[in-house]
Amino acid sequence: MSNQLNEATTYIEYQLNNKPTVGLILGSGLGMLADEIEDPVKIKYDQIPGFPVSTVAGHAGQLVTGKLQGVDVIAMQGRFHYYEGHGLEAVTFPVRVMKQLGVQKLFVTNAAGGVNESFNPGDLMLITDHINNTSQNPLIGPNDSTQGVRFPDMSTAYDRGLQRLARGVAKDLDLDLKEGVYVWNTGPTYETPAEIKMLQKVGGDAVGMSTVPEVIVARHVGIDVLGISCISNMAAGILDQPLNHEEVIETTEKVRGAFLQFVKQILAQLDS
Ligand code: 6GU
Repeated sequence: MSNQLNEATTYIEYQLNNKPTVGLILGSGLGMLADEIEDPVKIKYDQIPGFPVSTVAGHAGQLVTGKLQGVDVIAMQGRFHYYEGHGLEAVTFPVRVMKQLGVQKLFVTNAAGGVNESFNPGDLMLITDHINNTSQNPLIGPNDSTQGVRFPDMSTAYDRGLQRLARGVAKDLDLDLKEGVYVWNTGPTYETPAEIKMLQKVGGDAVGMSTVPEVIVARHVGIDVLGISCISNMAAGILDQPLNHEEVIETTEKVRGAFLQFVKQILAQLDS
């Protein structure tokens, strides 16, 4: 893997005119944040040696780097999901590349189903912790100790300082920021109502099909993480209506403005 990592890193570095310190992984319907990056350099995933290629509609497939709110960022416009058939090593490869490029903080975003019944579609939720409900882990296999330790601590997977900053920004913006625990299921099926009842009992607030693998690897390599979910719909059984991907995309489009403003303001206030 480290050969591939170096190849991908070298390929990307060669095209960049900045040194990104903050990585952004943009979930379903949230990729427009990358369109706000100034003087962007865009690199299609399929051009990068070792990069997987995205298959889901609504997920562009490129890295976008440049400045956002004065911060050097590298954004993934579209991510890789386990349910697409990618191995978790492939899903998390871009995070390792980001680390090699000098990224120190990672903002991960996603569209998620609301499990907490006090949430509403369109809410933004600060991820305070997660539950890996898959029995999968991207670190299974021999450990490369140049990357990180064999048994990474996950007690503060979501950086407390970044959470504090996000709360402060939400307050400034008069944004009703929810908080909670994100549950990772593999998908691609949405959950059954019985599964959602179970997730409520075990302490889940939102559920989705991404994010946790990238967060695990970010922690492995020592990157600080901020996680934000856009609650795109209520999970199965909470409202008496079927779920579909179109609804997910529609809701994320509705909260686009609030989401953009929130993340941009967090960037603007980093380290201040
Ligand atoms: Cl309800 N479940 C999962 N697993 N992912 C989602 C979702 C629900 N809503 C958006 N993404």
